[in-house]
Amino acid sequence: MRFQNKVCLVTGAGSGIGRATAVAFAREGARVLVADVNGTGGEETVAQITATGGITLFINVNIADRQQVGGMVARAVGEWGQLDCAVNCAGVTGGKSAPTHEYPDDAWAQNVAVNLNGTLFCMQAELTQMLRQGGGAIVNIASAAALKGHPNNIGYCATKHAIVGMTKTAAIEYATRNIRINALCPSAIETPMLMDGRLNLRNNPELREKFTNDQAMKRMGHPDEVADVALWLCSDQSTFITGHAMTVDGGMFA
Ligand SMILES: NC(=O)c1ccc[n+]([C@@H]2O[C@H](COP(=O)([O-])OP(=O)(O)OC[C@H]3O[C@@H](n4cnc5c(N)ncnc54)[C@H](O)[C@@H]3O)[C@@H](O)[C@H]2O)c1
Repeated sequence: MRFQNKVCLVTGAGSGIGRATAVAFAREGARVLVADVNGTGGEETVAQITATGGITLFINVNIADRQQVGGMVARAVGEWGQLDCAVNCAGVTGGKSAPTHEYPDDAWAQNVAVNLNGTLFCMQAELTQMLRQGGGAIVNIASAAALKGHPNNIGYCATKHAIVGMTKTAAIEYATRNIRINALCPSAIETPMLMDGRLNLRNNPELREKFTNDQAMKRMGHPDEVADVALWLCSDQSTFITGHAMTVDGGMFA
């Protein structure tokens, strides 16, 4: 119960890593604001949490819209009085694969709107509240694509690299204000984004094998294995860690 009496917000909590993180926070006693642009997914997460006696609420929010993001933080504070932890997990791939000279404008724009602008808007709203109350912890979900090149995926790769830069910059700015900001860089994690999204690994056994073998452990990660690290970075077990971009990668970068 590391998060008893804490208020935690998770974006992208309607699916995959975000859902696993919201469920884990609730299991450890937090009041959890489940935020997602997908109402059905968000409500499913809320149902999963309330079924086990957890305290949670869903808010439908598009993180690419600054006003909606402001409303999201205001909702957490309005309901529960504070915001202790935020995991900014909502993200997109842009949906298309192409080499850089042919990379489509719409895929670039989607990555910039959600991964880049959206993560900034979330951090700004969360930091404003955390400054007001005197502390907090933020974890931004970047990617292995934040630390190395990702062929045919420049929009995603560029915006995930930017998330690490934003994380480090903010970590320095607020290091003496009792606010820690870290990033996670997962490799292949078995979620709808990877299995059914741009790469559709579910229906592509060859590519699935390649993604499996990229990890030294010769398996993909489970969303819970990312959630566990996100919780640790938000917890009082990591009070001297800020500005870190931590891989969760089954040994891929080793
Ligand atoms: N799955 C992987 O292998 C992997 C690896 C590295 C990083 N990541 C990152 O982890 C995060 C979560 O990914 P996932 O694999 O769980 O994907 P997912 O598609 O299962 O979940 C992403 C969630 O974000 C929500 N979302 C998308 N755009 C949004 C917006 N504008 N506003 C609010 N919510 C929005 C979606 O509705 C969805 O519920 C993403 O940032 C992704 O880039 C995933």
